[in-house]
Amino acid sequence: MTDHDPAPPPGIEIPSAAVEAVRDAEWVTVFTGAGMSAESGLATFRDTDTGLWEQYDPMALATPQAWHDDPALVWAWYQWRARKVLAAQPNAGHRALADLAADRAVMVVTQNVDDLHERAGSDVISHLHGSLFAPRCSHCGHPYHGTDADPTDAVEQLRVEPPTCPICLSTVRPGVVWFGEPLPADQWSSAEKAFAASDVVIVVGTSGIVRPAAGLPERAADAGIGVIEFNPEPSALTRYATHSIRTSAAVGLPALLAAVRQG
Ligand code: APR
Repeated sequence: MTDHDPAPPPGIEIPSAAVEAVRDAEWVTVFTGAGMSAESGLATFRDTDTGLWEQYDPMALATPQAWHDDPALVWAWYQWRARKVLAAQPNAGHRALADLAADRAVMVVTQNVDDLHERAGSDVISHLHGSLFAPRCSHCGHPYHGTDADPTDAVEQLRVEPPTCPICLSTVRPGVVWFGEPLPADQWSSAEKAFAASDVVIVVGTSGIVRPAAGLPERAADAGIGVIEFNPEPSALTRYATHSIRTSAAVGLPALLAAVRQG
């Protein structure tokens, strides 16, 4: 924990075997989902958004079909989400993961498209589902760095025309993976390598229902690697967890860090 983080609340008991597994680990892979960012004020993926977008189903907007039907609507939605991330701060869970890396390799493999792990100081080796801050040309794939992709400029509008690629003049698209699209090969390969090299895997804030990403902790468990889950609710990965701790990211991870440091 950084100095300004309060001590974790009493009563969160991390099983001693889980603490020892992390304390003794040289390589830790942390697999995170939307619940990791919930205490930063960002809705989990399956919550419904409020306000301007409450009438839209996020699951319907994050699809190639939605992009084909109305690129300006989909672009505006991702710019709105990016603006919300920019207004958010990493929470005590993000910071605890960054601090955990002081004494061991901590490799973050995230399903999240926000940049809160990076802003907390973690080494994110894979954004399996892309990033809100990596728009690219929908045709030539060239990364787009133009200022009209800057979410701080977009206002609360239901439609914003996406920018045009300066290389091939095609439409620039959000840098996220939509349902039905393949995961970026380089991100998948980095994630597989991290899991394979792990002494222990920590899973935080994911329902564990979206494949192939959710298959990675399962494969680790099948290989005999310890899996420690932090989630207020059971998930589809709970059955693969050596320890499943019913607490939130911003409470459980600082408690884990404090216990690891006490040893
Ligand atoms: N701390 C930890 N976990 C939390 C918290 C919290 N404060 N709040 C909620 N959770 C848990 C929920 O119990 C749930 O299990 O976070 C999980 C969020 O699940 P989803 O909303 O399904 O998000 P996620 O698992 O990341 O979805 C995976 O599916 O929708 C696609 O591409 C999208 O990356 C996303 C993927």
